[in-house]
Amino acid sequence: MNTTTESNRRPFSIERMAAEHVEAMKDPEYARRVAAEEEAAKAEKAAKAEADRIEWADGSLRRSTIRRALTPRDIAMVTGEAHDATPAMKLCSQWFDEWLKGDERDERWRPWLWVGGGRGIGKTLAAATLIRRCALTYPRGRVSYVRMSDLIRIQRARDSFKTKDVDEADEMMGEIVESAFVVLDEIGQEPETHRELARQAFADFVEARRSHGGPTLVLSNKSAATIRERFRSDWYDPRTESRLSEILVRDANGKGLHDLGGTDLRGEPI
Ligand SMILES: Nc1ncnc2c1ncn2[C@@H]1O[C@H](COP(=O)(O)OP(=O)(O)O)[C@@H](O)[C@H]1O
Ligand SMILES: [Mg+2]
Repeated sequence: MNTTTESNRRPFSIERMAAEHVEAMKDPEYARRVAAEEEAAKAEKAAKAEADRIEWADGSLRRSTIRRALTPRDIAMVTGEAHDATPAMKLCSQWFDEWLKGDERDERWRPWLWVGGGRGIGKTLAAATLIRRCALTYPRGRVSYVRMSDLIRIQRARDSFKTKDVDEADEMMGEIVESAFVVLDEIGQEPETHRELARQAFADFVEARRSHGGPTLVLSNKSAATIRERFRSDWYDPRTESRLSEILVRDANGKGLHDLGGTDLRGEPI
């Protein structure tokens, strides 16, 4: 069977195709269809880009490692933006909103926010929403979540004098402090037996991250009074305190260690 038609026997010519297109577009119905197809393709592309952006942002919970600190229900709340406005959430969002304003922000909104308060008031969940927001805003920025216990492990490796361990630890620390946004969680939880390691780890982290200048959220279950006492008693290095005093957002009373109240949202104990 001969299916060859007149048109596809002719040699391919862009000029002829363009001329045919111009001719066809004189038909208003055809022109409308072409415009609608172009519109649909544009909308599909935009929807795909938005879906990619959200997938990237949701993936930030895994990449930052904060997933390990959340329940599946917490993760659903964060990705679905279906959380309550807890005091921790309000303070963290306000600080982050201001931070995103760049040069426009008021000088009061410094790069580090310290949020202290009892267990279960929603500190880590608030941090997760900021990590996701950071990824939505900066599609290529790295976001990091570390606990004080991670910094202590890194510090111990650095103190080991085993070249491979030291190199790995330095690299990990480098990646953390070079991130677009960093959360340091559970400071103050370290046991007395890790006091020296904690002192050094905290000092190194503050020193290295401070020079990066990026936004940093510090979360603690310990009261501001306990943390202050640790600086007084040399548990934490007093030099770390003076560095922090230059970079922490102050509360209405001028204090850099925000103490939030609130009840444990985890519900009844077992
Ligand atoms: N903004 C919120 N909206 C609704 N529930 C929350 C919110 N924040 C925390 N919760 C609930 O409280 C629990 C503990 O929150 P979490 O952030 O881990 O507390 P913290 O870090 O202060 O100890 C979560 O697992 C969740 O069930
Ligand atoms: Mg927590």
